[in-house]
Amino acid sequence: MSTHDWRSKAANDSLKRLLPRLETSYKKQIAAVPQISWTGFKARLHREWKRLFCCLHELYGWQFDFYYTLEQVLDMLIRYRLGRPLALKKLDNKREADPSWYISEEMVGIVLYVDLFSNNLAGLQDHIPYFESLGVTYLHLMPLFSSPHGENDGGYAVSDYRAVNPDLGTMADLSRLATALHEQGISLALDFVFNHTSDEHEWARKAKALDPEYMDYFFTFTDRDQVDQYQEHLRDIFPTIRKGNFTWNENMQRWVWTTFNSYQWDLNYSNPAVFRAMAEEMLFLANEGVDVLRLDAVAFIWKRPGTDCENQPEAHTIIRAFNAIAQIVAPTVIFKSEAIVHPDEIIKYIRPDECQLSYNPLQMSLVWEALATREVKLLVSAMQNRERLPQGCTWVNYLRCHDDIGWTFDDTDARNLGIDPKGHRRFLNDFYTGKFPGSFARGLPFQFNPDNGDLRISGTLSSLAGLESALEEKDDDMIEQAVRRINMLRSIMVSIGGIPLLYAGDEYGKLNDYTYLTDPTKISDSRWVHRSRTHWRAAEDLADKDTLEWRFFYEMAKLCNLRKQLPALRDGGLTVVDTGNPHLFGYIRKNRDQRLLIVVNFSEFDQVMHREKVAETGLTQTAREIFTQKPQPADQDLLFNGYRYMWIDFSETITPIDEQWLKTIGSSG
Ligand code: GLC
Ligand code: GLC
Repeated sequence: MSTHDWRSKAANDSLKRLLPRLETSYKKQIAAVPQISWTGFKARLHREWKRLFCCLHELYGWQFDFYYTLEQVLDMLIRYRLGRPLALKKLDNKREADPSWYISEEMVGIVLYVDLFSNNLAGLQDHIPYFESLGVTYLHLMPLFSSPHGENDGGYAVSDYRAVNPDLGTMADLSRLATALHEQGISLALDFVFNHTSDEHEWARKAKALDPEYMDYFFTFTDRDQVDQYQEHLRDIFPTIRKGNFTWNENMQRWVWTTFNSYQWDLNYSNPAVFRAMAEEMLFLANEGVDVLRLDAVAFIWKRPGTDCENQPEAHTIIRAFNAIAQIVAPTVIFKSEAIVHPDEIIKYIRPDECQLSYNPLQMSLVWEALATREVKLLVSAMQNRERLPQGCTWVNYLRCHDDIGWTFDDTDARNLGIDPKGHRRFLNDFYTGKFPGSFARGLPFQFNPDNGDLRISGTLSSLAGLESALEEKDDDMIEQAVRRINMLRSIMVSIGGIPLLYAGDEYGKLNDYTYLTDPTKISDSRWVHRSRTHWRAAEDLADKDTLEWRFFYEMAKLCNLRKQLPALRDGGLTVVDTGNPHLFGYIRKNRDQRLLIVVNFSEFDQVMHREKVAETGLTQTAREIFTQKPQPADQDLLFNGYRYMWIDFSETITPIDEQWLKTIGSSG
């Protein structure tokens, strides 16, 4: 019998043996839920069990208590399905009937810190109209769970996955918010910080007290040689804060594996109890009404001696097992991968049975690269060579987020274009920290590593794109140019394929905030320069149409609302076109009967796309430019002023744009 057959049979047998037993013990609870909901669950269970079984077998099949693991997992699936609120079960049905809801052109995302945006969860609910006027349908809240006072990596050190940080509210506030968002057609995304817990999590506390059961939840070592053997192959993530990936714990007299900060303890997924415990935390969040889970730091979750302990095959197996569990219990829930690694590795996490969504850090960083160089060749080559995502998966496109920008492009791609990767990264870092002569950017260095020269960049969209320096110079032309640059970048994010994800503040042009330098818990982490409070005064100024804030907000809302009217912007597929001009980036988006040619000028100077190049794209009859709503004859050059962008509809039949949405802007603050 082949392994495949053997596993199928074993999967079937195990379910046949375990399920009736568990159904008997949950008889009363099962009788209390609608019959149809239970049969639906069983259908999904039968559909997904084999895949879950195979993942678990791969990870834990060799352990003597594997059958116990299976039984515990099945028991958990049943408990959480029985406990899933009715409204969410209804949502499950809806989403099952429309499984690719997140691929739609309707999707527009925003991500924010609750405390910085609205003080707390209750306050956030009052701002739902603000999201609506931007057209937001996806709200990602930065980590909001209980975490250590003082330093906590912006909440990425979780002490309790079931308790909201009391400053922000309660778990009840969170599920109330989820319901209110769902009512407005907005889905809720939260982080699933599953690579590590904080050192104050109950499991870590028990481990510190030398409870052997919980010491097995983490990686601890008495032997420094063993630590050194691992360390030799590992990368330093926060080298300016600390060298190495291990932290000495006095109480345990042991080294603890801490990839990120010393208070973030990596979980040991080779222990099936850890897998089960974290799967439960995930289902708990799912039943609170979360639609999208952002899988934090996915690359790091499996360790293998002699490797860099990133992107190991088992990391994928674990995510697939979580995916099967979510599909069975809470099919509403999808995953977003946060793998800020080499492009060839990023792509491996994006599959319908793993993460349906993924950040697109390559595109993000290359857009910034093109903005600095005013040349689009590296961006073009990366987009041309990028693999098409499997059906049912899409990118999350962003310009800025709470983290730094790292220059993740492939070295060979760069060399093929005559670019020296190391020198180019140095140039980009000089440019974005404002050191390069003539640079407009005001970024800050993040995590300089003197051993290899690596450096990343912090800063807000507006400060990196030149608004801060222009305002300081009080130079109207420079200000105007910065505004155009920012709008141009945002037009790409909205149109290039995938879900656009705004970083809150970028809708009204927020600048860097240097007050973090006065806070001892933040001073050593420059990412806080782009993590600051929402200026509600500025947002209220949206009523005043003369402000820069208003112009940014208006343009953003316009882009988002236009996006929703353009089915061509659905999904992630795009064809990069040859514009014949090194400064012009062009692509075609196609879907249903709609075809759009999008061209963007990355330089501050006037540029032309010649008519022959335009014709090569297939634009051979009169088309219509969407922003101006003017006809675009086929046999004409396309003319661009500095940083101009055009979206040209060249479908057989051109659908008119509805301007109704304009009325909703500015009506809320
Ligand atoms: C992710 C987060 C980052 C955090 C790290 C550790 O990469 O985006 O902010 O520092 O994980 O949890
Ligand atoms: C590293 C990690 C990434 C994290 C970032 C935080 O790049 O790979 O996951 O977001 O550090 O700065």
